[in-house]
Amino acid sequence: MNETLNTILKRRSCRIFKEDKIDKSILKEIIKAGTYAPSAMNQQPWHFTVISNKELLDKISFDTKEIAKNHPLEYIRGYATNEKFHIFYNAPSIILISHMENAYEPKVDCAAATENILLAATSFGIGSCWVEFVSYLFKKETEISKKYVEKLEIPSGYKPIHAIALGYSKLDNIPVPKHKENTVNFID
Ligand SMILES: Cc1cc2nc3c(=O)[nH]c(=O)nc-3n(C[C@H](O)[C@H](O)[C@H](O)COP(=O)(O)O)c2cc1C
Repeated sequence: MNETLNTILKRRSCRIFKEDKIDKSILKEIIKAGTYAPSAMNQQPWHFTVISNKELLDKISFDTKEIAKNHPLEYIRGYATNEKFHIFYNAPSIILISHMENAYEPKVDCAAATENILLAATSFGIGSCWVEFVSYLFKKETEISKKYVEKLEIPSGYKPIHAIALGYSKLDNIPVPKHKENTVNFID
């Protein structure tokens, strides 16, 4: 199998991380892969914030859970009220992805960049998990969301939408989830 396909099939969501930090030079290479994603009209409407400060990551997790405690879905409230649940699974680094609000297809473009990052991380033997949960912190503009946007130096006109947790996996093999069948038809 070629190397690219192998990396795509190997990528799994990792939720148990070692404490070991990721070298900054590797983080930069991983983000570069994100910036090479396609984007509508080549707007590249993304901004990446790399956070590797444990205290800050714990605080973001705590504040996000506080907001999610009022979520209409019981499933989400269940995570939010679980004291053991850390939204980034105690990963040593995260990349917070913000999209340019008045771009043409910013969420789609950021999703493409995110997948590139997940695959690049996999190629370096680094575990990753797409974390949408953090979006609860930024969905509505509140005093707390404004405080974070300022503290994290998110550029004006951009809004955080999701994050990627990154670190070295504690597990050698993460089970492959069941994949749906019959999701394709060929018209010749
Ligand atoms: C849009 C999106 C949002 C996600 N949000 C979360 C999340 O908040 N927390 C989490 O643990 N996993 C999250 N995931 C990861 C999915 O749960 C995971 O991709 C799925 O279960 C399939 O597993 P795999 O990534 O190992 O193939 C998200 C994935 C996507 C694409």
